[in-house]
Amino acid sequence: MHQDAKEILYTAEQLQARVAELGKAISEDYKNESVVLVGVLKGAIVFFTDLARAIDDSVDVSFDFISCSSYGSGTTSTGVVRILKDLDRSVEGKHVLVVEDIVDTGTTLHYLLENLHARGAKSVRLAALLNKPDRRKMDVDVDYVGFIIPDYFVIGYGLDYAEKYRHLPYIGILKEEMYQN
Ligand code: PRP
Ligand code: MN
Ligand code: MG
Repeated sequence: MHQDAKEILYTAEQLQARVAELGKAISEDYKNESVVLVGVLKGAIVFFTDLARAIDDSVDVSFDFISCSSYGSGTTSTGVVRILKDLDRSVEGKHVLVVEDIVDTGTTLHYLLENLHARGAKSVRLAALLNKPDRRKMDVDVDYVGFIIPDYFVIGYGLDYAEKYRHLPYIGILKEEMYQN
């Protein structure tokens, strides 16, 4: 385990097992349909690549990415959402499945889901690996959720603190001393 982590919350094996279940559910729901997986950079990227490969060939899948940030480098949300990099293709008339690592205050996803609806998507759903309902400020419906967690500061499997720890293959809890001073 990384020295800055105090505990492993989900091991790589637990993550793979849950992602396989989500992929199966998504495969059934979108069977014989086309869907654009929209990954929210950068946190979603590890979950995105695993989830995409857990969706079977009965679904016509394409990828697009958006960078939509509500955080600075610290741990608190500013409440302001900025699009740093937009989608490459139009989603008008398409089924869209947004793929996110975590829904925390809901600021990012509340904004993004509305924004994609406004672009004329045929449907917009959300797959989030982690959901932290205790921190919610804005309503967000999560259609596919990996795990519901308490208000822990989590790192790894795409999740960062000040851009570190994204590459860890598990989800850990960051030691308080790393962000309290
Ligand atoms: C994090 C996380 C979600 C968002 C959740 O992204 O990956 O996208 O915050 O927080 P919210 O529910 O309070 O909006 P961040 O803005 O840190 O960018 P990153 O994905 O590049 O780490
Ligand atoms: Mn993010
Ligand atoms: Mg972040």
